[in-house]
Amino acid sequence: MRQNILTPSGVPLTAITYGTGGRWNPELDELNTALICNAFEQGVRSFDTAQSYGAGGGEGRSEELLGQTLRDVRSQCVLSSKVARRIEKPDDILRAFEDSLRRLQTDYLDIYFVHWPGTQTPFTETLQAFRKLKEQKLIRAIGVSNFSASQLREALTAVPIDVIQPNYSLLARDIERDIVPICREHSIGIMCYSPTEKGLLSGRYPLDDLAAIPQALRRRMWFQPEGLAKSAALLDLIQRLATRHQATSTQIAIAWLLHQPHVSTVIIGTKDIAHLQENAQVASVTLTAQDVHDLGEASRQALGI
Ligand SMILES: NC(=O)c1ccc[n+]([C@@H]2O[C@H](COP(=O)([O-])OP(=O)(O)OC[C@H]3O[C@@H](n4cnc5c(N)ncnc54)[C@H](OP(=O)(O)O)[C@@H]3O)[C@@H](O)[C@H]2O)c1
Repeated sequence: MRQNILTPSGVPLTAITYGTGGRWNPELDELNTALICNAFEQGVRSFDTAQSYGAGGGEGRSEELLGQTLRDVRSQCVLSSKVARRIEKPDDILRAFEDSLRRLQTDYLDIYFVHWPGTQTPFTETLQAFRKLKEQKLIRAIGVSNFSASQLREALTAVPIDVIQPNYSLLARDIERDIVPICREHSIGIMCYSPTEKGLLSGRYPLDDLAAIPQALRRRMWFQPEGLAKSAALLDLIQRLATRHQATSTQIAIAWLLHQPHVSTVIIGTKDIAHLQENAQVASVTLTAQDVHDLGEASRQALGI
């Protein structure tokens, strides 16, 4: 699988990263283990987790299972994790990091993220812990996630930021306005999350049958009647391109992201082995410049930008 190397840290990210958010109930251990193994077999070498990922199985359960499953191939993998949102003080971060290393059964992390911008402690202070970890070669790259442009600029006054993790998709393009230019200026990599807008861009949900949309998604803007109406033309174009390229809608949505020169990797978040294989095989889909342009325009129409 194609790789993008973050500079200057040298961390190699495969075009697809397997993201381990979602459910981690003990009865899902077998499925979750199979998903991680399958991602590795598909050529995925970047894996994304977080201290807080473990719903159903307790905090850190995703890290634990990832560590257990990838133990024998650790050196071939890039592991990124994130400190929990409530932890902002440097000493607390250093302790949380030790716990993450233990759960992941490793003695270093490739990327360590601030998961969400804190509210109690200035970033410049929080990030001193990250500086220390990098100086000690316990982490290879420093990341921040869900930071606004001004928060990213403030963070950059404390330490060099190697990579960010924002929401970015055909239905979430805010970062293009003011964050992507900062990333270009400072050689910051971009790992994008929620590439299918929680499955909407896969075309799996009938737009005219609200009852078919899972309850948990209905409060989200794009799954409400107005959002569904706004995205209809984009979804239709994605479907037509999928037919033309003998691909799936999800592959078209991910391929569009991979055609954006500022994107380092796309984090896929499926809990379904067939979907994982489909998404990991996106490299076989090559969009034309016209396709990329048309998708971009349809997405602008949907977003009203
Ligand atoms: N930094 C952060 O704050 C943050 C926030 C959110 C996510 N993330 C990271 O990004 C990863 C991905 O985010 P996400 O889960 O929100 O991604 P997403 O792709 O927007 O949403 C995942 C949903 O899409 C569906 N899906 C995926 N591929 C599909 C396919 N081929 N066909 C049909 N449905 C498909 C999945 O269903 P199935 O399970 O049925 O395939 C799942 O319901 C997470 O695991 C996590 O690592 C980070």
